Amino acid sequence: MNRPIRLCHLSDIEDGDARGFDPHQQGHDSLFVIRQHRQVIGYRNACPHKGYEGTSMAWRKDRFLNKAHSRVICAAHGAQFDINSGECLLGPCPGQSLDRLPLLVNEQGDVYLLPADSEK
Ligand code: FES
Repeated sequence: MNRPIRLCHLSDIEDGDARGFDPHQQGHDSLFVIRQHRQVIGYRNACPHKGYEGTSMAWRKDRFLNKAHSRVICAAHGAQFDINSGECLLGPCPGQSLDRLPLLVNEQGDVYLLPADSEK
């Protein structure tokens, strides 16, 4: 992937909630985006739980957060992750973190997935 991929408009994600995306047409949501006002945070939809690496985390389409929308939660074994750092706070993967993806919101509010090497 060499070019930014438009995922959606900011308004397509409810403030404080998350949404899954399949930007590479893989037939499943390979990443998810959390919206906090005008800020977006993206992670690969792949749990770091040892032995279950890569497990899709949503318990239902676009359901990546706990009830209070304060943590990311993995539906498989209930691991909980800090929304901002992706660090596992509770559950079976202490010391591990979600894989953060680089995103950009332009002035018009369009949300883009940036090429992976733009992180560096
Ligand atoms: S696969 Fe996510 S907690 Fe086990």
